[in-house]
Amino acid sequence: MTRRVKLWDKYFDLFLDEEQIAQRVQELAKELHKDYLGKRPIFVAVLNGSIHFASDLTRNFHDKCELNFVKYTSYQGTQSTGKLKCVLGLQENIFGRHVILVEDIVDTGLTVAGIFEELAMLEPLSLRIATLLYKPKARRHAVQPDYVGFEIANDFVVGYGLDYNGLGRNLPEVYRSVVD
Ligand code: IMP
Repeated sequence: MTRRVKLWDKYFDLFLDEEQIAQRVQELAKELHKDYLGKRPIFVAVLNGSIHFASDLTRNFHDKCELNFVKYTSYQGTQSTGKLKCVLGLQENIFGRHVILVEDIVDTGLTVAGIFEELAMLEPLSLRIATLLYKPKARRHAVQPDYVGFEIANDFVVGYGLDYNGLGRNLPEVYRSVVD
């Protein structure tokens, strides 16, 4: 039987289990390790959603690196408001550095495109995007992620950092909204 959770008024079915996530995150970390060996990259993780992904990704990146956080909001419930608000800006100088922007999910691409633009103005040596989940069908902005954990359909998902109105971030798995 499918594992199901209820958050507020919505039901969600298990979509990616802990093992699938761990395996894919390890693969991505390996790829990053190969691309950034000896380059001491700075991972810039977007709060709150990318907390677990950034933590697991950097812990599996077995070379010197730095980890910083920024916080932006654009979502209310299951819908993007279309407006990006910076809640916590970058506290680190990234001029001339290799930067990897770490997102939980790229949906319309608004968040990642906005943050990418702001970071690019700080003149890093290189700037790439790593995201655990990517909804290519929802994309409305030109920026494309370089490292993708899983391409998914245009469904609303929770767990492993992703929330529905504040709930679900602590789930170790990813769950998909049940369409009624
Ligand atoms: P975008 O700006 O439309 O690409 O949305 C990016 C942000 O919206 C993500 O960082 C998430 O915080 C949130 N988001 C987008 N899709 C989902 C989802 O399916 N579940 C939970 N949060 C989501």
